[in-house]
Amino acid sequence: MHKKGSNKIKNPILKEVTNRIYKDYKEAIMNKPATPGSHHFFKGGLLYHLYSVTRNAIKICELYPNLGVDTDLIVFGALVHDIGKTKDFKDYGDDNKNNPKSGNSMDLLGHSYEGAHIVENYLEQYEIDDQFKNQIIHMIGSHMKYSEWGVLVLPKMLEVIIINYADGMDADLEPAHTILKNAEKGKKYKIGNAPREYYKSLNKYYEEN
Ligand SMILES: [Fe+2]
Ligand SMILES: [Fe+2]
Repeated sequence: MHKKGSNKIKNPILKEVTNRIYKDYKEAIMNKPATPGSHHFFKGGLLYHLYSVTRNAIKICELYPNLGVDTDLIVFGALVHDIGKTKDFKDYGDDNKNNPKSGNSMDLLGHSYEGAHIVENYLEQYEIDDQFKNQIIHMIGSHMKYSEWGVLVLPKMLEVIIINYADGMDADLEPAHTILKNAEKGKKYKIGNAPREYYKSLNKYYEEN
């Protein structure tokens, strides 16, 4: 990000916590992939994904300007939602393409819990209303929509629903970049860990760029 995403956050505590997390986890954010086998599986993938989800979330807010949502919670949540992955995966490298999990928390805790835990530890250091603190943590713990994806509590705020969409959109579409290079018109192709293959358009006016 050439311009800090946290500049869009007005609440000084949320802004400071975001900046501290990006400073304290800088190396991990820059070196980890987002999700091996699914999306952004390359060095810097986690940072790229965090940036893209934040961009998507801001765009969604622009498309629905009358929702009355708190953009501070949305930008904070988008920038930090996958911070728990810094505990899940090894850095990207030749030695771990087939075995990228670090084994720390992936199976037993998962990144929603890990991220919520990280954020809660920072928030403990500030004077902050208890219920608002829970709402902030909800942005991280409930950024995955479904229980089988590791959500802690099903989403209960519009702000986290927007993060769900922004996140899912990026996770679904990013892996298509590499796949589409090799896919021919009319052929089916597999993207990330999507449950089925997709077809390419047969429209004769369709030109790939
Ligand atoms: Fe996630
Ligand atoms: Fe994500």
